[in-house]
Amino acid sequence: MLFRKPKNLVGLDIGSSAVKLVELKEAKEGKYQLVKAGLESLSPEAIVDGAIMDSSLVVETISRLLASTSVKNPNVAVSVSGHSVIVKKIQLPAMPEEELSESIRWEAEQYVPFDINDVYLDYVVLEPGAAGETMGVLLVAAKKEKVDDYKNVVTQAGRVPSLVDVDVFALQNCYEANYGLDPTRVVALVNIGASVMNVNIVANGQTVFWRDITFGGNQFTDALQKAFSLNFEQAEALKRGEPVGGQTAQSIQPVLGGVSEDVAGELQKTIDFFQATSGSDRVDGILLCGGGSKVLNLDAALKEKFGLEVEALNPFRSIPVDERSVDGGWLTENSPSLAIAVGLAVRKLGE
Ligand SMILES: Nc1ncnc2c1ncn2[C@@H]1O[C@H](COP(=O)(O)OP(=O)(O)OP(=O)(O)O)[C@@H](O)[C@H]1O
Ligand SMILES: [Mg+2]
Repeated sequence: MLFRKPKNLVGLDIGSSAVKLVELKEAKEGKYQLVKAGLESLSPEAIVDGAIMDSSLVVETISRLLASTSVKNPNVAVSVSGHSVIVKKIQLPAMPEEELSESIRWEAEQYVPFDINDVYLDYVVLEPGAAGETMGVLLVAAKKEKVDDYKNVVTQAGRVPSLVDVDVFALQNCYEANYGLDPTRVVALVNIGASVMNVNIVANGQTVFWRDITFGGNQFTDALQKAFSLNFEQAEALKRGEPVGGQTAQSIQPVLGGVSEDVAGELQKTIDFFQATSGSDRVDGILLCGGGSKVLNLDAALKEKFGLEVEALNPFRSIPVDERSVDGGWLTENSPSLAIAVGLAVRKLGE
C-alpha cells in the first residue's frame, strides 16, 4: 500500500450550465498530456444556485459525457463552491497533529455558520508554529447535503466519486500546472461561470485570498432577454454571437457592455476588500477563464477599469494535446470552460 503509485482521476466539473470532463496522463512528474476532454450542456433547471434540483437530468448528462469521451477510468474528482462551502484560514494555538484532528471540529464551530453536524470538515496546516505559539490552519467546511448530492450523481452514473475539491482550489491547481509559480507576481485568477464567479488571488506562490461571487454569464443572458424580449435560449445564442430576431453582435454591445461594467464592479469590490485586509496590496494582472469570460469585450472592460494586464488563462498552456482523441478546433473553442476540470484532473488518488 505504502508505495502504490497514485492513481489518476477524471476531472468532472458539474457546472450549472454544462458538465465538463478532462482526463490527463502524467508523462513525467508534474508534466501532463491531455487524453480526453468533453462538454455537455445542462438545462438551467437542473442546478440552481449551486444546488442539484433535478438529479436524473444531471446523471443522464454525465453518462452521455462519459460515453461520448469513452473514458474508462472509474475514479472521478468533482468540486463544489458557493454558499454551502466555507474556506477560512484560522489561527490556533500550536498543537500536535493528533490533538488538532481531535479538536478541529470544536475549534471550527465558531467559524462555520451552519450546524457543525451538518458539514464535512477538512483542514491543512499551512504554518506550523512552535509550542506556545500559534499555527495557521486552512479550514474547509462543506454542507454534507451538497457534497452528498454531488457524489450521488457520479455514483448513479456508474463511477466512483473518489475526491471532492473546492472550485477555487481547482482553479489554483490548473494555474500552477500551466504557469508554475512565479514568486514575484500577484495574480487574480477569475473563473466566470454561468451563475458564480470564483476569484483566487495568488501571491508568493500561495493563495492569499479567495471568494465566490454570485454573478456570471446568466446576468448577460438576463439583460439580453429583458432588452429584446427573448427567451433564454434565444438570448444565449445571441450572447454567443449568433444573430437572433434582427439583433447582431454589434447591436447588443451596449447591453453586454453594461453588464461587463457590473462584473468589473463586483471584481473591484473583491479586490478592494483583499487590499484592505491583507498586507500585500498589489495585483499585477488578471487571468480570466470560465465560459462567461468569452463575452465580447469583457476583457477590455476589465482592462479599462483596473488598468492591469488582463489575459485569458490557458488551461492547456503546458499540457500538450493528443490530437487523435481531442479535436484542436473544439478545444480552442471550449478551453476557457475547462479550467476547473483540468485543476481537478491533476489531483491524484492516494496523494
Ligand atoms: N461564446 C460565448 N460567449 C459568451 N458567453 C458564453 C460563450 N460560451 C459560453 N458562454 C457562457 O458561459 C457560461 C458557462 O460557462 P461555464 O461552463 O464556465 O459555467 P458553469 O460551470 O456551467 O457555471 P457555474 O460554475 O456558474 O455553475 C454560460 O453563461 C454561457 O452562456
Ligand atoms: Mg463552473
